[in-house]
Amino acid sequence: MIDTHCHVFKEYYNNIDEVINKMENNIIIISGTNDQDNQEVLDLCKKYPNVYGTIGIHPTEEYSPNSLKFIEENLNNEKIVGIGEIGLDYYWNKDNKEKQKEIFIKQLDLALKYNKPVVIHNREATNDTYEILKNYPSLKKDIHCFSGSIEMAKNYIKINSYLGIGGVVTFKNSKLKEVIKEIDLKHLLLETDSPFLTPEPYRGKQNEPYNIIFVANKIAEIKEIPLEEVLKQTTLNAKDLFNIER
Ligand code: NI
Repeated sequence: MIDTHCHVFKEYYNNIDEVINKMENNIIIISGTNDQDNQEVLDLCKKYPNVYGTIGIHPTEEYSPNSLKFIEENLNNEKIVGIGEIGLDYYWNKDNKEKQKEIFIKQLDLALKYNKPVVIHNREATNDTYEILKNYPSLKKDIHCFSGSIEMAKNYIKINSYLGIGGVVTFKNSKLKEVIKEIDLKHLLLETDSPFLTPEPYRGKQNEPYNIIFVANKIAEIKEIPLEEVLKQTTLNAKDLFNIER
């Protein structure tokens, strides 16, 4: 199994060793969101063989010119497999749209320059996010925590995207079920977004990468296919997107 997106940082966990070792035979991709996280991603990648990382500036986080420099300087690290989490967030802040777009585009340009995939965050900014991403059709994308319509899913797939599916799919009344029924498994990735968005049956408790199994189970149930098939295909998808060989 590969948890393609989570934030296993000291800020949230006092048992990081335990949480990561539980995923010993699996892969965890930890996403940075600011300067401090990005450094921690590098440290965790160095410490644990099963941890890979992406580094980036999240739309709600502070940054400086050095933040971008730091990202660029570390893209040659073999365990840094992409740029993220980056994107637009008009839920928390809609007064700085232009500033958000500016840092988003700078990071997309960086990804293009170094041929790295990107991990995309979008909250209440779907149109702007898609309009910007459309300008980067060749760039490989992980639409993290995808929550749009079937039509939107198809649009994203056309511009070289995988859809990140997490705990939300296990929630009662989740509209994602329709999307998952319709979209081929070869376009989907498993993610937890730990410590957030804990799947059922643990909703309300702190999330951790091992809970990815509940997401996989739910997808298998919705698509009426064996769990093994979900695990196998989504692992291939993640390895392809993030260029992971092991
Ligand atoms: Ni996230």
